[in-house]
Amino acid sequence: MVRILKNIAYSIGQASNTIVVFEVVFKIVTNLCMIPGLVLLFNLMLKVTGYSFITRYNIGSILKNPLSILLFAGILLLAAFVSLAEISMLTVFFGYRFKEKQFYLRNLLYLSLRELRRLANPENFILVLYVVCILPIINFNPIAYYIFGNREIPDYMLGTIMQSRELRVLFAVLAAVLVYLTIQMVFIFCYFFLERKNLAESYRCSRLLIKGRVVKTVGSILGCVAFYVLIYIGFYLIIISFVQAGTEFFYEQQIAYAVFLTIFNTINKILIVILGIFQTISVAGIVVELYLQYSKNNRKLYSSTYLQKKMYKKLLYSVNKALLLLLATVVLVTGTGIYLLLDEQYSILHGEKTLITSHRGFSAMAPENTLASIDAAIEVMADYAEIDVRMTKDGVVVLSHDADLKRTAGVNKKIWQLNYYEIEELDVGSWFSKDFKDERIPTLEQVLEYSKGKIKLNIEIKNSGQNKDFEKKLIGLIEEHGFEDSCIISSFSYDSLKRIKKLNPDIKTGYILSAVYGEFYNLKDVDFFSMRYNFVSERIVTEAHKTGKEIHVWTVNNETIVDRLTRIGVDNIITDDPVMARSIIYSKDFPKSTASFLKLVFNY
Ligand code: G3P
Ligand code: MG
Repeated sequence: MVRILKNIAYSIGQASNTIVVFEVVFKIVTNLCMIPGLVLLFNLMLKVTGYSFITRYNIGSILKNPLSILLFAGILLLAAFVSLAEISMLTVFFGYRFKEKQFYLRNLLYLSLRELRRLANPENFILVLYVVCILPIINFNPIAYYIFGNREIPDYMLGTIMQSRELRVLFAVLAAVLVYLTIQMVFIFCYFFLERKNLAESYRCSRLLIKGRVVKTVGSILGCVAFYVLIYIGFYLIIISFVQAGTEFFYEQQIAYAVFLTIFNTINKILIVILGIFQTISVAGIVVELYLQYSKNNRKLYSSTYLQKKMYKKLLYSVNKALLLLLATVVLVTGTGIYLLLDEQYSILHGEKTLITSHRGFSAMAPENTLASIDAAIEVMADYAEIDVRMTKDGVVVLSHDADLKRTAGVNKKIWQLNYYEIEELDVGSWFSKDFKDERIPTLEQVLEYSKGKIKLNIEIKNSGQNKDFEKKLIGLIEEHGFEDSCIISSFSYDSLKRIKKLNPDIKTGYILSAVYGEFYNLKDVDFFSMRYNFVSERIVTEAHKTGKEIHVWTVNNETIVDRLTRIGVDNIITDDPVMARSIIYSKDFPKSTASFLKLVFNY
């Protein structure tokens, strides 16, 4: 234990700002660089296979497509190169850092780049393929996997493997071989990058060096990983106390709980990335330190000054050029990555979590289908607000669930019989509570302006058939306000959805089903189905997901039902109580004991 701590302290102590800065920049840049590639891959896969979404039920057939396999292989190779670049930099850094005091980032780049060039040699290229195989092992970060990894697809694949005896045995043998190889080859990068030996020679040396030292070496590395898990748990408890204390002053406790669950996801990701960076640096430092310790008398390490001098003379021009090219590419690809990251339509893997739609705004808190109710939905951080839209006689799209105004304004007239000026002064708040006296019927335009960047909308078309241009008008408004990616359109009428898709095929459409039977899954102009909770079964969700479509469910106000629906994998729950839904859905991210602990802390 003490030795492990000493190792970690030593490697971090040696690390210096240079390598931390390098690792931070490297992680950000490479992650951003991977995004365009992944988005391209997923979009192409969707195009080729004709699905609307990737789900765990259709990923099998998507991945079987030859083009997908090719692209997937490309991505894996790229990931291996990225990992190797990181390993080479860290190894070179610690290799020389232990020897010499002054070591600049620029020299580190020069040296690593030069070593990486050796991979182009066919006899060394196998190292790239080897790294492809051990990608899950070298990127092993238990906290990340446990907390926010999209476990659905890996779990599904693992589930498939575990079902068949042969596959199970094959998987176990393969995993054992890989673990054995990783241990035997743990020092391969030191020999390859520091002593500049070729691959075969590096492998031989690594095996010799680890002989009789497996327990100490593996123990040190795993101990280091465990240390970071403990640090994470510590931070996690501190964050909980802070958020709890902070939110206590501003919100009711039950809202505080829902808000906490939402923002915790983000804080968590940042924390995991930061700890991941330190974990990588520490493990690399420990491996190099052990290598230097074990091979004290017979290592042939070049002096970096010697290497640099030689390099400056010979390679300065070409290396500088290569660095410049690298920099330009990185800036370009990273830029694209940032753009795609900010553009929500490219959220890559779908179905990580059941989303929450607040019904008719947050209609339990404020009068339905008003700006006040949308505001309430925004405040509790619902993913979507569902609204019902109709058209006035003079063609203004406004929000109203009912065709007439009797219930909400006490006026026994249909909306389509009135002009907008006749309804704009009506009070649709007082029926709900006198606190909302003078709340008006908003136009869709006002709602789009109000919601932009704050909440997405599920716009339900309530067209009684009087207005033939309804869809045209609707799409016009959505396009005008740039809401194409921030809304979905649902309707009881399939014809209406067909018209929508004709006008703009990129806007996601949902068919609200009044009854559920027959083979409706393949309807062309539908991206999701919206149904009453009592119709939904696991089979329906599975079948819909197989065809790459989503299942949205309404109107769910009961905890047990939210729990059941989340378990069977519905994609979106429409509810009058988004706070309750949030606490049920997000609590699943935590083990049961943590969830109860959180409830206790938040007094919920
Ligand atoms: O979006 C589905 C759901 O809202 C349909 O029910 O009557 O509340 O519009 P309703
Ligand atoms: Mg509705």
